[in-house]
Amino acid sequence: MKLSRRQFIGSSAAAVIVAGMKAQGNVLGANNRVRVATVGFNGRGNAHIKGFLEMKDGGVEVAGLCDVDANVLANGGKQVEKASGRAPKLFKDVRELCASQDIDAVTTATPNHWHSLVAILGMQGGKDVYVEKPMSHNVWEGRQVVAAAQKYGKIVQHGTQSRSNPTLIRDMKLIHSGFIGQIVESRGYVYKNGNRGSIGRGTPGPVPAWLDWSLWQGPAQEKPFYVKTINSGGKKQAGMWVPYDWHYNWEYGNGEIGNQGVHQMDIACWGHNRGMPTRVHSAGGRFGMNDDGMTPNTQATTFAYADGSILTFEVRNLGSFQEMDGGDCGNSFFGTKGFYVVGKGFFTYKQGRMDQREAIPVPKDAISDSDEGNAFQRFVNAVRSRKQSDAPMSVLDAHISCAHCHLGNIAYRLGRSLEFDGQAERFKDAEANKMISRDYRKGFAVPQLA
Ligand SMILES: NC(=O)c1ccc[n+]([C@@H]2O[C@H](COP(=O)([O-])OP(=O)(O)OC[C@H]3O[C@@H](n4cnc5c(N)ncnc54)[C@H](O)[C@@H]3O)[C@@H](O)[C@H]2O)c1
Repeated sequence: MKLSRRQFIGSSAAAVIVAGMKAQGNVLGANNRVRVATVGFNGRGNAHIKGFLEMKDGGVEVAGLCDVDANVLANGGKQVEKASGRAPKLFKDVRELCASQDIDAVTTATPNHWHSLVAILGMQGGKDVYVEKPMSHNVWEGRQVVAAAQKYGKIVQHGTQSRSNPTLIRDMKLIHSGFIGQIVESRGYVYKNGNRGSIGRGTPGPVPAWLDWSLWQGPAQEKPFYVKTINSGGKKQAGMWVPYDWHYNWEYGNGEIGNQGVHQMDIACWGHNRGMPTRVHSAGGRFGMNDDGMTPNTQATTFAYADGSILTFEVRNLGSFQEMDGGDCGNSFFGTKGFYVVGKGFFTYKQGRMDQREAIPVPKDAISDSDEGNAFQRFVNAVRSRKQSDAPMSVLDAHISCAHCHLGNIAYRLGRSLEFDGQAERFKDAEANKMISRDYRKGFAVPQLA
């Protein structure tokens, strides 16, 4: 039975997890035991917990949980105890969790504005880190995570799980080997419109008793809690931005390009493989919604690289047709000798309708080097081996992919094309450089390490 990410907190989910635990094999010795703690688990964090509880070797313990929502925290504690027979240690303040000696690895699925700080605090507390996408809320803090991983010698895994897809790993190796010539354009798109409608409007109101709004805001400047005054089609929510709709507020989220988009951006950067761009242009708007959302639901972004190649990225939450019947999110790569569409394969440029295209067969000896399991298993493997190369991607690659989303948003918000120095990670534009980082709230600053 497959659980959706919102189904973990519920009695049926607990039964499934308990059943999974009974199927586990031998428990490893204390030296190999990895004690993980998940931070933020209203939605995605439950997939982390479930992933660790279901691991077959029995050497992974969900030893800690942290959330600023008291209901989520208490429920999660009960569910994990029921599933594993061990009560996890519960934390409200992630800083206490990161200082705890009883945890080996932290996984975090808080809103985006906390990601880099949790990752760095975790490493400073001696822990390896699985950090949800995007690893950063701005370019500067992403670079600090890269520096922290080097400084503290910790494993950092980024939550773009396509990097653990064996077919994609094989095909990316082929692309990098020149199988369809030199890649001249890489393209990613997100045309999701389910769960992407109006988010309504809000006004300052009382903070629910179970939520620590100050800790939720963390590195963002303190603002009043907002409740909804105009609802968005009956969706029940604690607040205007909480949960989930924070994606559409620049203080906490990075818009759709940094929400679903960062998955496709990561694939695009993986295949394009040119590092940082030298120029970025982005335009669009938030159309067809009468709401307080700040971020665009229609956005086209173009990145140019030193060699003249381009990466194009589109967000269209109003909807679209499905390119090559490829679903509402996708990627394609155009080389000098042919093109590649994720999920469809390699093709020649022969003229004709899509269904008449000539496929280029994948060579029989082309293999994926990943039969190491899903993203959570690969994280645990890397934690045990102490090799970042056993994780699906480097921290630098995670930074580069996330930085693309941030660069696109800066160009969009300024409404002009920007030149970027990828070495210095600075624009040639003073106003744009102010948006490379943020003013961190006192007590929640991301440490400068680079
Ligand atoms: N990899 C994937 O496929 C995938 C899928 C969905 C979401 N995500 C990512 O996961 C993250 C969470 O998304 P979501 O939809 O679950 O959001 P959500 O708003 O539903 O849940 C966030 C949780 O974090 C908690 N939280 C906030 N600040 C905290 C803090 N300082 N300490 C501890 N807990 C804190 C909240 O109380 C809440 O329970 C996002 O960054 C998102 O991009 C990844």
